[in-house]
Amino acid sequence: MTANATRGRFVTLEGIDGAGKSTHVGFLAERMRARGRPVVTTREPGGTPAGERLRELLLGEPMHHDTETLLVFAARREHLARVISPALARGDWVLCDRFTDATWAYQGGGHGVDSARIAELERWVHGGVHPDLTILFDLPPAVSRGRLERAAANGRTLDKFERESDDFARRVRAAYLERARAEPARFRIVDSTRPVETVRDELARIVDAL
Ligand code: TMP
Repeated sequence: MTANATRGRFVTLEGIDGAGKSTHVGFLAERMRARGRPVVTTREPGGTPAGERLRELLLGEPMHHDTETLLVFAARREHLARVISPALARGDWVLCDRFTDATWAYQGGGHGVDSARIAELERWVHGGVHPDLTILFDLPPAVSRGRLERAAANGRTLDKFERESDDFARRVRAAYLERARAEPARFRIVDSTRPVETVRDELARIVDAL
């Protein structure tokens, strides 16, 4: 069998802040494991010791939007080299909470970073690795704002992106939806305003069809 024939599946989760991705990561990983392959669960920014330190900087420190873009791709290079590519080469499945669509949505859509720059970094850093499936948890910014405010009232400190305006969240959401429209074969859009159980049923169907 060739290396390519045994390559694992690469699944990413996306959505605006408060869209509920994290609620479903454990369930998705279990459902994927039930398909019989080991599953590596990871996240961006982060997923490696260097990446996690960059995450702290990215989520805590105000910076030029180009710097932000360069740092997310620096963390991603490390993540691909040390975690994602080796796992896929072993034949494992990778479930990654956010990936490059988040850069297109947040730095591109949200902050207006030039798409040619993002495309160039994507080509350089990815080295041909791309998600097979991306689940986009979609909901209106007003709903996510309510969720984030409740989390803050319960004592959680909101990070730099969670404190951005609703207008920023609208631009991020629009960028995500545009990417989903451009690549319908890769994306599944999940309506995240519905009860957790209903969302879970849909996620189970998506994973079982992988
Ligand atoms: P999380 O809250 O889902 O863990 O994501 C961390 C934040 O990082 C989230 O607000 C989105 C942001 N982010 C970017 O701005 N660009 C990126 O490329 C990635 C991966 C995340």
